[in-house]
Amino acid sequence: MTRTASRTLTSLFLLPTLMMAGPLAAQAPLTIPPTLSGAQMDLTLQNGTTQFLPGPATNTMGANGPLLGPTLILEAGQFVTMNVTNLVGESTSIHWHGMHVAPENDGGPHIVIEPGETWSPAFPVLDKASTHWYHPHLHEKTNEHVVKGIAGFIIVRDAEEAALTLPRTYGVDDIPLAIQTKELDANNQVVWHGVMDTHVMVNGTIDPFVEVPAQIVRLRLLNGASERVFNFGLSNNQSFHQIASDGGLLTAPVSMTRLRLAPGERAEVLVDLGALQGQSIQLRNFGSELPNGIYGATQPGMGGGQQIPGYTNNPLNGGNYDILRLDVGAPTADPVTNLPGSMTTHTPWIEADADTTRIITFSPVNMGPTAIQGPFVFDMMPFDMMMINQYVPFENVEIWELRNQTPISHPFHIHDVQFYILSINGAPPPPNMQGRKDVVLVPGGMGVVRFITKFETFWSAETPYMYHCHMLSHEDDGMMGQFLVMPPENVGTGDEAVMPAVISVFPNPANDRLELRMDASLGMGDLTIVDGLGRAVHTQRVNGDRVHVDVSGITSGSYIATFRGAGGAATVRFVKQ
Ligand code: C2O
Ligand code: CU
Ligand code: CU
Repeated sequence: MTRTASRTLTSLFLLPTLMMAGPLAAQAPLTIPPTLSGAQMDLTLQNGTTQFLPGPATNTMGANGPLLGPTLILEAGQFVTMNVTNLVGESTSIHWHGMHVAPENDGGPHIVIEPGETWSPAFPVLDKASTHWYHPHLHEKTNEHVVKGIAGFIIVRDAEEAALTLPRTYGVDDIPLAIQTKELDANNQVVWHGVMDTHVMVNGTIDPFVEVPAQIVRLRLLNGASERVFNFGLSNNQSFHQIASDGGLLTAPVSMTRLRLAPGERAEVLVDLGALQGQSIQLRNFGSELPNGIYGATQPGMGGGQQIPGYTNNPLNGGNYDILRLDVGAPTADPVTNLPGSMTTHTPWIEADADTTRIITFSPVNMGPTAIQGPFVFDMMPFDMMMINQYVPFENVEIWELRNQTPISHPFHIHDVQFYILSINGAPPPPNMQGRKDVVLVPGGMGVVRFITKFETFWSAETPYMYHCHMLSHEDDGMMGQFLVMPPENVGTGDEAVMPAVISVFPNPANDRLELRMDASLGMGDLTIVDGLGRAVHTQRVNGDRVHVDVSGITSGSYIATFRGAGGAATVRFVKQ
């Protein structure tokens, strides 16, 4: 492996700081996003400008301000109405990453907010205490809108977490840290398709410092970068404790000196600063320690032959650099000085509970030495807004087996659910990954991750949920799929509990030939028949209110027929004898 000049220089720690800030900028106080709470939250997506660097201001986007957005504080069990007004002058969407909400409220690429419109999803908060985030999710626009600046934290609180002695004074001993990188061009304007994201920022602040009390402090880390994996540690190499993963508390604090976080992932950590009053330490990225095959390591590919053009020119790749200076001041009046013992219990589903195993294969579109440059796809199919990739029976417990046949690691994210990792390349996950997760970094070069989850509470015959790579350029380039959680019974569109039968099947049980009748209001559309494992066994375009299907070739068992027409969607269950 060749060691490039830039890499050698970055191990001095200093160079990226100089490059990022420019000679005129001094260190800047960390921005702590304001908070919203209560039963109604108003987010206005808007354009603005931000003075990141000396010289021209950068055109940015934010929620309720020019860059990023407020932290939404939610209580588990509360009902919340979000009013999201789009004033950015083009279509976008807002997705509540990590939250368990109905597909119509999830804010994926089908839930477009047109310019000037207000989208008002209303839902109960069903999550456990956790750190989530919100960001745009418009197809092919996610990366641009996130890099321009729309993103914010969601903090869910609950009784279980409240009963623990944990730091939770927002902005004092409980500090949200959204770590992102940006490429800025010669006019300081945002570039979202390059590799020179040399500007590291926390909550939108370049080269930040924050004053923290001399006691146990909680940091809520979010990797909000488009591609880059971070490997966090402290400059004095003291250990810290991870207390929560994406979906909430771990069973007990996990001690570590390094924490790897891939795009989309969150972690809550406790850092004991009790002995450091009057001193400063740095939250630092130790990129030189990342194994090759991860975006952010010295080489992004597993093998030296796989190169992303320009990658090695970016000193952040394989580099060690400071992210945030922690200036330790006086303790607060009521400091937390002890780590909690056990925090929660996890009872993951076990493999024997699973109704099915679903295999998702990652592959490059181009084979050979340029494979690593992407695009990448799941199951050989680039994302198609009109194509449902997986049909998941309601309340199924499923193992998803992710097979990465590309030379680079990809952070796989799924909407709707939190999952438990069963194995990474055959081994059980490390303790800090044994809690609830919604993003997992799948190793390149034939890496395999298996997780288990249950698709409960919500279903829709009409609106899918997404799964995708959370490297946002990969997502936009088609490394995404969508799944419907199938309605439990013969019910109608949307989430109404009961609807008159708008699709029916004769005879039932069926033998060789099936007749399906659709209500004419559904219009022209597509019929899909899936088996009990959610695999499509028959698809056909239907124009009319009745269709005959030859089912003589399908095996005996129970099936779900779904018709998605211009006027709505409906499903019916039937049995093949
Ligand atoms: Cu954070 Cu589908 O995304
Ligand atoms: Cu998400
Ligand atoms: Cu990817």
